[in-house]
Amino acid sequence: MRINQRAVVGTAALMTLALGATACGGARGGGADGGGDAQTIKFSHVVTPETPKGQAAEKFKEVVEENCGDQLTVEIYPNSELYGDEDELQALQSGAVQMLAPSSAKFTTIAPQLQVLDLPFLFDSVEDIPEVVAPDTEVGKAIYENEALAKRNIKVLGLWDNGLKQLSSNTKMQEPSNLSGLRFRIQPSDVLRSQFAQWGGAETTPMAFAEVYNALQQGVIDGQENPYSNIESQNMHTVQKHITESDHGYIGYVLSVNNDFFDSLSPEVQDCVTNAADEASAYNREIAADLNEEAKQTILDEGSTTITELSDSERQAFKDAVVPKVWNQYADVIGQDLIDELLANQK
Ligand code: LMR
Repeated sequence: MRINQRAVVGTAALMTLALGATACGGARGGGADGGGDAQTIKFSHVVTPETPKGQAAEKFKEVVEENCGDQLTVEIYPNSELYGDEDELQALQSGAVQMLAPSSAKFTTIAPQLQVLDLPFLFDSVEDIPEVVAPDTEVGKAIYENEALAKRNIKVLGLWDNGLKQLSSNTKMQEPSNLSGLRFRIQPSDVLRSQFAQWGGAETTPMAFAEVYNALQQGVIDGQENPYSNIESQNMHTVQKHITESDHGYIGYVLSVNNDFFDSLSPEVQDCVTNAADEASAYNREIAADLNEEAKQTILDEGSTTITELSDSERQAFKDAVVPKVWNQYADVIGQDLIDELLANQK
């Protein structure tokens, strides 16, 4: 079921060059001789179509193609098959693709404030997410009104959920010290590096998502963190004996469009695309938790991975090791006011 897409990294890099070259003129001109106004949204992502992001992307395509006129089509490229973590943001900025939905951590170099979403234990449960990230909250403003993204020609159309992350490795992890001596793959976020350092001094290696399965299988890394849907759809559990249900962090996706492309659309089509993004976002919220539950059940049914559910006090020990320490460590990147407000709202 899983396609280990980036086993062919070299091929993909060549494809990237070729596609980048053909896409330089942007998406306009998809019609014969460039005479019509046909336009294509190339939407690239790194997960499988079955995941919360994959399904929301399909919903977006369905709504756009149904409501926004014959001239606009959406092509979805899942599984890092067109662009992967290492080159997709560049492709978005250059207009080689028009839309992406990378997780917040992938923006660390271009919009470091988005690491607010990577803060460990920002949410205690998935039910808390919509309220904390609503566009009119301080966290929401950091995402929707992010100036660094605007400067990079990136407009934010929504925030999609995957869910809360769990820890996996071949070692049972019931308390932070159990992570001592292990090396975890992280997304490229300093916050995540600091989080693991607080848990028994665990080591970290930033790595593209598409490479994680092979790296786990070959023992290049000992473990990783992800929601169940990502673990199961990449078959990571087949090479990890233990998962700890820590619910310790969030994977949220910043639904991003190339701003020049968006501006090139007529006002009616812009509204239509914005509405389709809203509809896909609502759909994503509806399905994400269930898809993660189903993925957890699949892992349990396969029977080769033990899932350890932490008691409240065990989870608290993981939390106490990083909150407020790691949050305060990033106050100057994320914003002291925002950190203070989030800390004040901590239960
Ligand atoms: C990861 O890199 O672990 C995730 O961000 C992948 C994804 O897009 O869910």
